Amino acid sequence: MARKPIIAGNWKMNNTIAETKALIEDLKPLVKDAKCDVVICTPYTDLATAVELTKGSNIKVGAENVHWAEKGAFTGEISAKMLVELGVEYVIIGHSERRQYFGETDATVNARTKAALQAGLKPIICVGETLEQREKNRTKSVVRKQINGAFDGIDADELKNIVVAYEPVWAIGTGKTATSEQAEETIKNIRSMVAKLYGRKLANKLRIQYGGSMNPKNVSELMAQPNIDGGLIGGASLKAVDFSQVVNY
Ligand code: 13P
Repeated sequence: MARKPIIAGNWKMNNTIAETKALIEDLKPLVKDAKCDVVICTPYTDLATAVELTKGSNIKVGAENVHWAEKGAFTGEISAKMLVELGVEYVIIGHSERRQYFGETDATVNARTKAALQAGLKPIICVGETLEQREKNRTKSVVRKQINGAFDGIDADELKNIVVAYEPVWAIGTGKTATSEQAEETIKNIRSMVAKLYGRKLANKLRIQYGGSMNPKNVSELMAQPNIDGGLIGGASLKAVDFSQVVNY
């Protein structure tokens, strides 16, 4: 099954416009021969700069969130149309930090996903269990609930525009990577959950990333797993050399 790998950086709340310029200029030559899709997801304030500086390169730009409404009285929020107008292509939805600190639920993830797709953005939908959930052997049921919630009411023909990122919460920013076996096991389960919803054929085409302390040292082993199609990279995406080494794994 030929799924093109996709490595995306999630900058989180990092990088001013000046820092964005420097990082992208450093990054461009280092990733120009990448065999995978390369994406950088930046804070809203950096998006216009990122789109401008990556024009003509193989780097795509994504946002880190999007609101579900087309427009209206939602102080501080950003709509899908606003992102599309900027030239943004991807958007991270349901990151665990948003679930943890900003009240994100499976229902809001679903609403954001629908709005993103409707506007022509490609959602990167994040799922993953906490340490406590893993220790109670609830990983599979937690992730199943997140997947079923995220995909509720989404048409099968939209699947080609969606990427899923499995990010165990306990592996994010902790330096504690899931073993390649742990990551592969859950990602394989996610593919089966999607197969239950849309059939095996479409599920086999869906790209599913691993995220959580992925770095130049562990990327090859993770990417060697049959169901892992890429990575969502936090810390290591903030340094051009590190991110390029992940991209060129
Ligand atoms: P780290 O790579 O810093 O662990 O972050 C992973 C992540 O949350 C990407 O979305």
